[in-house]
Amino acid sequence: MNQTGGTLLRVQNLEVSYGAVQVLWGVSLSVVRGQVAAIIGSNGAGKSTTLNAISGVLKATSGRIVFKNEDLASLPPRERVRRHISLVPEGRQLWPKMTVEENLMMGAFPPKMRKNVKANIARVYEMFPRLKERRSQLAGTLSGGEQQMCAIGRGLMPQPELLMLDEPTLGLAPKMVDEIFQFVRDISNQGVTILLVAQNVNYALQFSHYAYLMETGKITLEGPGESLLSNQYVQEAYLGSS
Ligand SMILES: Nc1ncnc2c1ncn2[C@@H]1O[C@H](COP(=O)(O)OP(=O)(O)OP(=O)(O)O)[C@@H](O)[C@H]1O
Ligand SMILES: [Mg+2]
Repeated sequence: MNQTGGTLLRVQNLEVSYGAVQVLWGVSLSVVRGQVAAIIGSNGAGKSTTLNAISGVLKATSGRIVFKNEDLASLPPRERVRRHISLVPEGRQLWPKMTVEENLMMGAFPPKMRKNVKANIARVYEMFPRLKERRSQLAGTLSGGEQQMCAIGRGLMPQPELLMLDEPTLGLAPKMVDEIFQFVRDISNQGVTILLVAQNVNYALQFSHYAYLMETGKITLEGPGESLLSNQYVQEAYLGSS
């Protein structure tokens, strides 16, 4: 059983703009320690923008991002990684001309974390034996599912307390989708708190303790995964039932 309880991450009134165009409007959400939270919503709703603001690669215009009672707003991305917040970005963002193992090593920054590199790589290989077999293969030549495993493996290198996954199953065949979700389940069972953005609404809601629906830069509905799954509006607009 996971030990759950207490808020690990609290986002309050987050606003983000790209130049003059504001895309997040007062987004608030919380993630409970040890749980899986999901953000669902259509293309362009602002899901990736939210994760990128939490990881620090995008700067918020206003709002608070509180992780374990500390406001992260002024911290650069590497300081957030040092606090064991890790993002597996949309589209995997691997270095295609680098090997699997080199890509994993790239997850081991900042330098202070490098002392655990060997042990962390060993843990990733234990979870993903297929990456171990292919450790010397160039990442660009992996299958889509293997690339996703490599991206998740890289995300595990900073020994995350909070792992954010942006569309981890995009473009994968159903069998591989099952496999990736099983890995996410295993990671969760190891006690890692997860914030998941998923296009596969059905799967994501079944999978998560708590979920948020994001529409045009705002949270419009939230509740336990099961309650959103049975919500009539969610069913009609996002699950294609009428
Ligand atoms: N670099 C950028 N410059 C300008 N606008 C951007 C940029 N990135 C995203 N946007 C805009 O911000 C809005 C939110 O985009 P975001 O990528 O967060 O959506 P999303 O919910 O992740 O969508 P998807 O499901 O397609 O991944 C969209 O209108 C998008 O066009
Ligand atoms: Mg996105």
